[in-house]
Amino acid sequence: MSHPILFDEEAIQDFQDYLNQSGFSKVFFLVDENTHEHCLVPLLQELGELGEMEVLEIEPGEASKSPEVLVQLWMALSDLRADRYSLLVNLGGGVVSDLGGMLAGTYMRGIPFVNFPTTVLSQVDASVGGKTGINLDHLKNRVGLFLNPERVYVLNRFLETLPFEERRSGYAEMLKHGLIADREYWKQLLQLNIKEALPDTIMIRKSIEIKSKVVEKDFRESGLRKILNFGHTLGHALETVSHEEGEPLLHGEAVALGMMGELLLSAEFAGMDKEVAEEAAHRIGDHFHDVEVTGDPERILEVVKQDKKNRKGEIFFTLLSDPGMVKQDIVVPESAIFNVIMRLQAW
Ligand SMILES: NC(=O)c1ccc[n+]([C@@H]2O[C@H](COP(=O)([O-])OP(=O)(O)OC[C@H]3O[C@@H](n4cnc5c(N)ncnc54)[C@H](O)[C@@H]3O)[C@@H](O)[C@H]2O)c1
Ligand SMILES: [Zn+2]
Repeated sequence: MSHPILFDEEAIQDFQDYLNQSGFSKVFFLVDENTHEHCLVPLLQELGELGEMEVLEIEPGEASKSPEVLVQLWMALSDLRADRYSLLVNLGGGVVSDLGGMLAGTYMRGIPFVNFPTTVLSQVDASVGGKTGINLDHLKNRVGLFLNPERVYVLNRFLETLPFEERRSGYAEMLKHGLIADREYWKQLLQLNIKEALPDTIMIRKSIEIKSKVVEKDFRESGLRKILNFGHTLGHALETVSHEEGEPLLHGEAVALGMMGELLLSAEFAGMDKEVAEEAAHRIGDHFHDVEVTGDPERILEVVKQDKKNRKGEIFFTLLSDPGMVKQDIVVPESAIFNVIMRLQAW
């Protein structure tokens, strides 16, 4: 692993040591309104005296991953006299770490930064893999850098204040990790009642391990990293159309439905046992039964066809031959995709 990832008590200890040893001129915390209240306040209490520090606060939500907000943050750092020996601490979900990574990577040609991911999604996904970025209007992550933080600190207790839907959205990515890489882990995750309970540190760690292994072998996404796209070809299309319809799905909700659909396609096109595929799709469906597919199926199909993995008019999917076994670059005909979308709508 290129940067250390530390958990819970070890994380706090390491962060204190890191600050003491590095002698930063100033520590800047980037938070959003929610993580300010729920995460920064208790964290500062626990850390005690930190020396010179400042807090940069953004509004919660995807809209903050914008060039305008990035410019405001550059100006704020400059006004507050941040220099090359300053540290940026990203304390928040994926929005904070994507934006904060860009900020740290560009201010004065780069200052050091660490991430404290505070959502399930950002702990298991956004905090690993070195992707940072902002959106250009509706174009997601159109501008960004591949850049790793100095450290990632994963505190399970941050998840306690996370709303249920956000927690379940991250859980969908965890289910994906099980499905693409580890059958036992997948089964274990299904036992978790995400409505009532938090994923524990052991589970979060397992997901991070799976993602890290894939990313380590393929940092710039030339091949293997595509296995992380399971559930996402269809999922992204459902997500996009749900936004167009004004009834936005959370990313993980769309991915959960996308995985259900791609499990059905796996039975048809990747040799997965049909009963196993149906059962797996239903188990995901049990956790996401209140999430609905909105929009015209034709429109959803059109968006699937725009996926950047496609070549020469053929539509490519990452599918499974079994839980834990991935098959990449499978061509799937439009009619089959359309049928699956119809099934998801009637689920
Ligand atoms: N860089 C990557 O590899 C990568 C991977 C996946 C997703 N992402 C990006 O991450 C973003 C989504 O991340 P996210 O799901 O973490 O969303 P987010 O950062 O918007 O957080 C979701 C909501 O939860 C709130 N919140 C965060 N932590 C909380 C806590 N501990 N208690 C209470 N509320 C809390 C936030 O204020 C926000 O309202 C997207 O922009 C996506 O593109 C990046
Ligand atoms: Zn995802």
